[in-house]
Amino acid sequence: MDERATWATRIGFILAAAGSAVGLGNIWRFPFLTGESGGAAFLVVYLLLVVGVGVPVLLVEFVIGRRSNRNPIGAFERLGHPGWKAAGAVGAIAAFIIFSYYSVVGGWVIQYVVASFTGGYGADAEAFFLSTASGTNAIAYHGLFMATVAGIVALGIRNGLEKAATVMVPTVVVLLVGLAGYGATLDGAGAAYSYYLAPDLSTIVGDAVSILPAAAGQAFYTLSLGMGIMITYASYIGEDRNLLQDAGVIVVLDTAIALLAGLVVFPFLFTQGIEPGEGGAGSIFISLAGAFQQLPGGELLGGVFFLMLLVAALTSAFSIFEVVVSYITDTFDVNRVPTALGMAAVLFVVGIPTALDLTYLDAYDLFANNILLILSGLLLSIFIGWVYAGEAVEELGKGRASDGRIEAIWLTTLRYVVPIVLAITLALSVRDYIGFLQESFL
Ligand code: PHE
Repeated sequence: MDERATWATRIGFILAAAGSAVGLGNIWRFPFLTGESGGAAFLVVYLLLVVGVGVPVLLVEFVIGRRSNRNPIGAFERLGHPGWKAAGAVGAIAAFIIFSYYSVVGGWVIQYVVASFTGGYGADAEAFFLSTASGTNAIAYHGLFMATVAGIVALGIRNGLEKAATVMVPTVVVLLVGLAGYGATLDGAGAAYSYYLAPDLSTIVGDAVSILPAAAGQAFYTLSLGMGIMITYASYIGEDRNLLQDAGVIVVLDTAIALLAGLVVFPFLFTQGIEPGEGGAGSIFISLAGAFQQLPGGELLGGVFFLMLLVAALTSAFSIFEVVVSYITDTFDVNRVPTALGMAAVLFVVGIPTALDLTYLDAYDLFANNILLILSGLLLSIFIGWVYAGEAVEELGKGRASDGRIEAIWLTTLRYVVPIVLAITLALSVRDYIGFLQESFL
C-alpha cells in the first residue's frame, strides 16, 4: 500500500497524538512519582529530560513515521535498515506490558466514577483506595476497561470516541484549573508549593542519580515515546506539515496538564495530613476523593472529573493497544478483529497479578518504563544520530522555512546528549530494578 491516507486536517493529527500523550500518565503517574521522589528536585530533572531528551526523541519518531509511511516494524525495512526492527520490537514488548496494567488503573478510574455517582468514597479515602486497587473488584473492572477498549477498536468506532475526547481533554483542563484554584485556598497550600516547586539546588546534582530512572521513564511514558506510537501516527502526515511545531504543541500541552495535576494533588494531600510519598500509586485518588467529600456538590464534581479522566485514559489506551495488535497482524498473517479480541484476553490475564498486589504493578511498571522504553529511546537516537542522519535531517526540514540550524542542534543532541543520558539512565535503572526485585520478592 503506497498511497496512504493523510490526516484530513492539521488539528486531526495533533488531537490524536495529544490524545495518546495525555492520559493517566499526566494525572495519575506524574504526581505520585513526584511525591515519591522528593518533589521539586524530581520536577526539575523531569522538565530537563522532557526538553533535552523527550522533544528530540519525539521528533525522531515523527521523522521515521513520515519518512517511511509505515508502522514501526515495517518502517525500518522501508528505510533500508531492517536490522533496526529490534528497536520497534522492544517498544512492542513495552506496549504489551504497559497495556496490561494501564487497564487495571483504568479499572480503578471506572470504580471511582461509579462510587461518585452512587454514594461516595467511604469515610477513609486511603482505605477506600486500597480496597479499590486490589482484589476481585479490581480484576473485574480491569476486565471491563479491557473489554471496552477491545470492543471499541474491534467495532471500529474509535473515531467517534476520539471526537468525544476533543471535548473531554479541554474539560479535564478546566476542571484541573478549578481544582488547583480551590487547592490554593487550603491550609496546606503553602507547604505543598514549597515541596513541589522550590527545589533545593544544593543537593540536586546528587539527587539526580536517584531521580534519573523514574524521571526519564516518566518523560517517555507521558509523551507515549519508545513504543512506536508516534511513528505510527506520523506515518499518516503530509510533507507540508511542520513537525517541529506539532511536537511543540503536544509537549507543551502534555507538560502543562501534568504540572496542573501536581498543583491539585499536593495542596490536597498536605491539607489532609498525608505525606506526599505516602499515597503512592493512590495519590491522585486519595487526595481527590478526600477533597470531593468536603466540597458541597463534590461527588457530582468527582463523577464528572473521573469520567473525563476515563476518556483521557481510553484515548491513550487505544494508542497502546493499536501497537500491540498491529504488531501481531503485521508479523503473522491474521485478521484484525480476532487478533484484537484474543490480545485483549491475553492482556487481561497478564494484568491480573497487578490487580491483586500493588507490588506487581510496580514490578511491571518499572520494568517497562524505566528499562524498556529507555532502551528503545537509546536505540532510536543512535539510529537517527549515527545511521540515518542525512535523510532524517532532510525530513525534519520539510514543511517549514529552515536554515538548517535547528536540524544541526537536533542531530548533535541525538548523537551525544541523548545516548549518553539514556545509557547512564539505563545502567541506573537496571541496578535499581534488581534492588527492587530483591527487596520485594526475596
Ligand atoms: N502517554 C499516556 C499517558 O500519559 C500513556 C501511554 C503510555 C500511552 C504509553 C501510550 C503509550 O497516559
